[in-house]
Amino acid sequence: MEKISRTKIADLMKREDFGATVNVKGWVRTRRGSKQVNFIALNDGSTINNVQIVVDLGSFDEEMLKLITTGACLSVNGVMVESVGSGQKVEVQAREIEILGACDNTYPLQKKGHSMEFLREIAHLRPRTNTFGAVFRIRHNMAMAIHQFFHERGFFYFHTPIITASDCEGAGQMFQVTTKNLYDLKKDETGAIIYDDDFFGKQASLTVSGQLEGELAATALGSIYTFGPTFRAENSNTPRHLAEFWMVEPEVAFNDIQDNMDLAEEFIKFCVQWAIDHCADDVKFLNDMFDKGLIERLQSVLKEDFVRLPYTEGVKILEAAVAGGHKFEFPIYWGADLASEHERYLVEEHFKRPVILTDYPKEIKSFYMKQNEDGKTVRAMDVLFPKIGEIIGGSEREADYDKLMTRIHEMNIPMKDMWWYLDTRKYGTCPHSGFGLGFERLLLFVTGMTNIRDVIPFPRTPRNAEF
Ligand code: 4AD
Ligand code: MG
Repeated sequence: MEKISRTKIADLMKREDFGATVNVKGWVRTRRGSKQVNFIALNDGSTINNVQIVVDLGSFDEEMLKLITTGACLSVNGVMVESVGSGQKVEVQAREIEILGACDNTYPLQKKGHSMEFLREIAHLRPRTNTFGAVFRIRHNMAMAIHQFFHERGFFYFHTPIITASDCEGAGQMFQVTTKNLYDLKKDETGAIIYDDDFFGKQASLTVSGQLEGELAATALGSIYTFGPTFRAENSNTPRHLAEFWMVEPEVAFNDIQDNMDLAEEFIKFCVQWAIDHCADDVKFLNDMFDKGLIERLQSVLKEDFVRLPYTEGVKILEAAVAGGHKFEFPIYWGADLASEHERYLVEEHFKRPVILTDYPKEIKSFYMKQNEDGKTVRAMDVLFPKIGEIIGGSEREADYDKLMTRIHEMNIPMKDMWWYLDTRKYGTCPHSGFGLGFERLLLFVTGMTNIRDVIPFPRTPRNAEF
């Protein structure tokens, strides 16, 4: 076959030099036609759109033609012509076809209309479907949006460690990292495991958040963000939790909670606008196939200011809803951690737009949050979104050394691994704030997918680490 440099289908669709000879490579989605002419829908992943390959059967070897089946990988040389019937502007009249990889009828993606559950079982192949192609292209574009947003505002991308000896959220949801022989653990007289001879000489884990190290950077470089994998061994089998997920964590010196809320709102709106601008074909596909309200929801978030409301006021609204006959699965009272049903009630039923809830009871939040004068609440902020619930969690940080120490003692946080964190408060402390956006939660919102397992290529959840 003549060697012609490959044109990606996404680029081919934009060309107008009809008559040019081109090469396209990709996987067969469908094949149909008559005894004389066949139409092959070829997809190479560069776009949701397939290019139609027109094959004049008489001009090709019969044995080769038999191998053009759903899932087969082809290289096609042909002439680019204007298309009338394919739904696209461009199609290719095949001159030469090479089968790069045949695909027999055991290929699981023969027909359309597989359930999402089934596709999760074949997560190694699901990127070849329209839906997952769209989701993973959007995932890439949202990662670019995040870097773009922070870079153009003078934030530095700071790499925090994945292996750590501290528990940022203090929730005890850490996966241990060890090279010790688990069949032969040395213990001291109290029964505690001795880690002196472990790889790091102490107990180590996968990080639940890059925040603590992010604060070290913010109090030196001013404005930073992290963007990397985080891990939580929380045994919650919900459509919104993963054991391995990606988090974006900006941290800014001199920002107070108001600045932090402004940044969060501007950031999310930038990302949503980016999806509309850069992923139009994929978003439209998902809108048409899964979620007819998707595009409208994206646009409505852009239009309106987020509601900003203290937790205490939010609880009053929820209590009034209960008094008015609304049924929640979990009880609501001042001091309760909000369940996603409560968050979604505020967003979807009561305010009908995103809500930033602030000033939560200190008992349900982490040790590092700035304490309010009332002695009961901390300067926390959660951004709550339609269909998702909590999409961002953040706070102004406690900058006062003594107050922070008191809180650390009250909450029984092991101090020996925290000396470096406390040094930020000891040496030139400053007000600062930050937040964490769950990347997959953002993707749930912009794709309209309903299960978080369907917006990450290879989800890790309780009892599931396949692929
Ligand atoms: O609210 P979280 O636990 O906050 C922190 O980790 C802070 N250290 C962030 C900061 O202030 N720098 O988590 C932040 C976000 C949540 O709002 C949610 O979107 C997401 O991370 N998240 C999860 N996403 C998927 N699976 C899980 N198990 C998640 N846990 C939290
Ligand atoms: Mg949270």
